[in-house]
Amino acid sequence: MRLLAIESSCDETAAAVVEDGRHVLSSVIHSQVEEHRQYGGVVPEIASRRHTEQIIAVTQKALDNAQLALEQIDGIAVTYAPGLIGAVLVGVNFAKGLSLATGKPLIPVHHLRGHIAANYIAHPQLEPPFLCLVVSGGHSHLIEVLGYTTFRIIGRTRDDAAGEAFDKAARAMGFPYPGGVYLDRAAQAGNPAAYRLPLPRVEGSPYDFSFSGLKTAVINLLHNAAQKGETIHTNDLAASFQHAVVQILSSRFLAAAEQFGYQKLVIAGGVSANSGLRGKMEEACRQRGYSLYVPPLPLCGDNAAMIGAQGYYEWQAGHTAGLDLNGIASLPIDC
Ligand code: KG4
Ligand code: ZN
Repeated sequence: MRLLAIESSCDETAAAVVEDGRHVLSSVIHSQVEEHRQYGGVVPEIASRRHTEQIIAVTQKALDNAQLALEQIDGIAVTYAPGLIGAVLVGVNFAKGLSLATGKPLIPVHHLRGHIAANYIAHPQLEPPFLCLVVSGGHSHLIEVLGYTTFRIIGRTRDDAAGEAFDKAARAMGFPYPGGVYLDRAAQAGNPAAYRLPLPRVEGSPYDFSFSGLKTAVINLLHNAAQKGETIHTNDLAASFQHAVVQILSSRFLAAAEQFGYQKLVIAGGVSANSGLRGKMEEACRQRGYSLYVPPLPLCGDNAAMIGAQGYYEWQAGHTAGLDLNGIASLPIDC
């Protein structure tokens, strides 16, 4: 089963050809990040326009790189939720057009399910059930992946997503957008014990996260230092912030693994690229004898290969759509 997959939920226009959910025949990503950087974040209107301009060329390149014609594709998988609605709709409408023109099935894929499936590409032996920490720019969830298309959320962020917290703290520290990767690099050269930052807990919900207090603490620390004319050591602050985020994420993840009896742990989403998170979880899993799966760096961020991977399992489960498929800005992973 060869799927052509389309992803346009945020600021990457991406297309890929994936065979049987695990073999990537091609993967093309056109990133708009340089253009959004000057505004300090993604401008939805610009994102939609660029997707419209790029989607045909990106898709054609994915087919060319796979050395396949559209007629040789068995189905069209597309991200239909969640995301910036104008951006999502470009991909959804394009995929609907391809499905109509070719008569091939249309397979709607939830973006976060796609992030999890990036791990199926990288780890051929990985199969559900497992416990997954999904940490992206827009979402932070602790999820029981009971089957390829069966999910149960056991924890979530109450305010900012992990990637959002990284980006906001990074911006306050003067890094360009999206700042997560720059903050990560600075953190590797800093002392994580240099600044004391809060580790907020959500009362009565042991597996939920909260990052806004931590982000605010960083912003206040920077403002106070500026007012007093004190110097802040950016690498040290980055390391202290990253240490706090990793502490919050890993403590909930490991507690949930113990409580629910999982020894197979998976990380997914853009923040799975974070060196501190990977290092901490690798160490903790080694100590406990757990298996840890993380995507290789090129599969951590948004791409269409992961949509093609999940699309295969959605198709196997009979989850196809008609031409009335609509994009959805906000949709839980477990519905
Ligand atoms: O999954 P993703 O590519 O897009 C969404 O679906 O949201 O995640 C993007 C997020 C951004 O917030 C970005 O700053 C963050 O992932 N990110 C990182 C790192 N690389 C990307 N955050 C921390 N450390 C990194 N190395
Ligand atoms: Zn994403």
